Amino acid sequence: MDSFVIKLGGSVISYKDKPLKARISDINRLAREISEVLGNRRLCIVHGGGSFGHYVAKKYGIHMGMPRIKIGLSILEYEMRRLNLMIVNAMINHGVPVLPFSPSNIMVTDNGMVSTFFKDSLLKALEWGYVPLLYGDFVFDERKSCVIYSGDQLCLEVSKLMNASTIIFCLDVAGIYDKDPKKFNDAKLIKELNHDEIPKFLSGVSKGDDVTGGLYNKISVAYEAAKIGIKSVFINGLAHNILPKVIKGEDFIGSLIY
Ligand code: IPE
Repeated sequence: MDSFVIKLGGSVISYKDKPLKARISDINRLAREISEVLGNRRLCIVHGGGSFGHYVAKKYGIHMGMPRIKIGLSILEYEMRRLNLMIVNAMINHGVPVLPFSPSNIMVTDNGMVSTFFKDSLLKALEWGYVPLLYGDFVFDERKSCVIYSGDQLCLEVSKLMNASTIIFCLDVAGIYDKDPKKFNDAKLIKELNHDEIPKFLSGVSKGDDVTGGLYNKISVAYEAAKIGIKSVFINGLAHNILPKVIKGEDFIGSLIY
């Protein structure tokens, strides 16, 4: 049976323009949708920082390395865990057996690339039928003191680890467009992109305001994944019942990178 890594984007689980405010009803709906299709499938869920992680990271300059105000890193971890627990709570209420893992506790990077990854417990959790739940987090870095390791990047690492067939990116728009759909009414949804087409496509994509590079980073991750045979699907996580369709292999509105 196919296995999936689901990325719940920060704009799907939080109000990006309202610091520290979670989209509780969307989190609950997504938990219900996941519970309905879980069955015996191997799933891993990764969530973003949204107005929790990005807000705190920017406030204390954590994306530039160890913050000058030391407590900033503690606050980042606290807020990410608070957001994480809201998702854990929703998943438990819907019977999804999640187990949270904090990347800052199981990974170290070297210049942003994973150098140590204590993956054994995560693999054991999958083996026992649990759904690991991770999130974009700060990670200690050999050279840069610390980095913000995005949930998108994490999806790539985890999908390799568990041999996933597909990464599903849940966004606040229907998928990847030929131009920014929030700015241009005539933006067209791109249904499919072969990884050969990505470098050219990326040259026209902005890195955005997020500390981890927004859509640019997600498409770069999908590119790396596609090169090793892992597909990526981009869907609207705020629209009802699209995620279950992808997992069940039914037709859906969104974009596929392969
Ligand atoms: C960012 O993770 C994590 C922090 C800022 C701590 P992501 O880059 O995956 O977050 P979103 O999905 O863009 O909000």
